Amino acid sequence: MTDQPTINPDEIHEFVRERYGAIARSADTATAVSCCGPSATTDVSCCGGEAGSCNTTLYDPALLEGLPVDVSGLSLGCGDPVTIAALHKGERVLDLGSGGGIDCFLASKQVGAEGYVIGVDMTPDMLTKANANKQKMGVRNVEFRQGQIEAMPVESDSMDVVMSNCVINLSPDKPAVFREAFRVLRSGGRVSISDIVTEGNFSPELRAQADKWAECVTGAIDVSVYTGFMREAGFVDIQVVDKYDADGIVPIQAGMPRIFSARITARKV
Ligand SMILES: C[S@@+](CC[C@H](N)C(=O)[O-])C[C@H]1O[C@@H](n2cnc3c(N)ncnc32)[C@H](O)[C@@H]1O
Repeated sequence: MTDQPTINPDEIHEFVRERYGAIARSADTATAVSCCGPSATTDVSCCGGEAGSCNTTLYDPALLEGLPVDVSGLSLGCGDPVTIAALHKGERVLDLGSGGGIDCFLASKQVGAEGYVIGVDMTPDMLTKANANKQKMGVRNVEFRQGQIEAMPVESDSMDVVMSNCVINLSPDKPAVFREAFRVLRSGGRVSISDIVTEGNFSPELRAQADKWAECVTGAIDVSVYTGFMREAGFVDIQVVDKYDADGIVPIQAGMPRIFSARITARKV
């Protein structure tokens, strides 16, 4: 099966944790406040940008106004899942793979004091960074939890919206992520995802490259398989809202299938 990892899932988690831990730590240094600055252990590009650049161009600049550079400078996504989520005051939002927290902080403004936002991430250094950002901003309706998105530390039927920005492609068990997203959503809840997807499959040899997987490339799967996993989990009204070439967002090589950054929405009945 070319849509399944050929690397051990634990190894993928470890590779991904190391990569994003290094990025979080490099964002702490005086010389590399931006997400994609050179880090001690990697010289590769971020998930979603060329080395040395950040991904704030993915958002409408008006949305980012007032965010500290520590937050906007640690944007590792491949799109803007917050805007298509069309959040309302008072909603409860879960962000899968919250990183430095950019989408959580954007959502927190939109749901207001009566709403609540939870970010889940498995990388301790990223959580440290997100919590430091939270403290700096004095935000009270955001909470960051450590955990894997394949087994979310979140109560069933408790969230109005599940969003995610460039993370599910990194998971070695995407069907489990969608089952968990379905479990934690209340009936009538919705998902809003930006992610890297493909048209076609990677060869088993490319699929086996853990470093490329951690760069949001070779863990990406065909968009129809991706939406099929969502359907199997129970989601309805699954829509690929938009989809554009990911060239310049992730490092693409010859011999790879077409790679896209897509925004995908769905609902739990
Ligand atoms: C490409 S970054 C995106 C961060 C954030 N969503 C953003 O837009 O800036 C991926 C993040 O997902 C986290 N992550 C990757 N796989 C994960 C998993 N299986 N469970 C929990 N977190 C994961 C990484 O630690 C990292 O912080």
